[in-house]
Amino acid sequence: MSEERLLNPQETTEEAVLDKSLRPRFLREYIGQERIKANLEIALSAAKQRKEPVEHILLYGAPGLGKTTLAHVIANEMGANIRVTSGPAIEKSGDLAAILSNLEEGDILFIDEIHRLPKTVEEILYPAMEDYALDIIMGKGPSARTLRLDLPRFTIIGATTLASLLSAPLRDRFGLSYHLDFYLPTEMEKIIVRSAHILAIDLPPSAATAIAGRSRRTPRIANRLLKRVRDYCQVKNQGEISLEACDQAFALLAVDYLGLDAVDRKILQVLIDKFKGGPVGLNTLAAATGEEADTLENIYEPYLLQLGFLNRSPRGRLATAAAYTHLGRNLSDGGLL
Ligand SMILES: Nc1ncnc2c1ncn2[C@@H]1O[C@H](COP(=O)(O)OP(=O)(O)O)[C@@H](O)[C@H]1O
Ligand SMILES: [Mg+2]
Repeated sequence: MSEERLLNPQETTEEAVLDKSLRPRFLREYIGQERIKANLEIALSAAKQRKEPVEHILLYGAPGLGKTTLAHVIANEMGANIRVTSGPAIEKSGDLAAILSNLEEGDILFIDEIHRLPKTVEEILYPAMEDYALDIIMGKGPSARTLRLDLPRFTIIGATTLASLLSAPLRDRFGLSYHLDFYLPTEMEKIIVRSAHILAIDLPPSAATAIAGRSRRTPRIANRLLKRVRDYCQVKNQGEISLEACDQAFALLAVDYLGLDAVDRKILQVLIDKFKGGPVGLNTLAAATGEEADTLENIYEPYLLQLGFLNRSPRGRLATAAAYTHLGRNLSDGGLL
């Protein structure tokens, strides 16, 4: 795995298969996101008492924070079947109609990247979510008629990175909407200790803390770093995980103590050295760093924003004083003065 992919919070195919064992299955195993869990527990219990499916749920937050995991947790808690699809996988309205008409009472349909549903498909979803109805258009032109089919009561769980990517009518049809936030350092440690336990890795607490600090407050990255550290220690340290060996592994992986990798540092460097700290537009910054604008915005920026190293303004991206300090630059070098 390349350096760049190491800290990419998006899931690799290999992980999608291997990490099933690391996924918490019930709310009590799901670490952090306490407010969401407390609210969900009430919503799920109430629905179960009424013997109804829970309302449609929108989960939004940065990649790797646990949206897919939470969707499966909800299904397990409800004792419901879950069917999984994604926005880009549904190309035609007929595809969605086929999925919906195969649902059974109480089923959960998980639509990942729901913001990428084509508009024509989205329109099928409105009556399905609101009235449990499927509108089928028969014939063409003036003689066209709409046939309304009843669907069983089901729950849609949608996942997306930003709620604002969804059209307002779609967003309004979710009764429950939860924003997953970056995890606290203590929660990250718990997640790492739990994963180490499942993978039968003997991890001293100091090493768990060191990995937590470099995981960008993102469980998927924590699990990935844990595995890289295990590999390193297996090959270079007779399988013993020590703090020193962890530090050597991180040095080799070029991940600094805040979890920044070479690309993060390059983004800040370019911003400070080439554009005097900004403001600079996203596309210009992307071109100057050799990254796609989309990657920059969705993969790298959320954590830099979270660290307070970057600001977004209407005129473009700005490096903060903290970014200058982290890179060892003098504030007078750039535009902050
Ligand atoms: N709250 C959590 N507690 C423990 N592990 C978690 C938690 N959230 C996510 N993970 C781990 O992180 C990985 C990525 O989570 P995932 O649900 O795929 O993220 P997303 O769908 O938001 O990109 C999962 O495989 C799971 O092992
Ligand atoms: Mg996911």
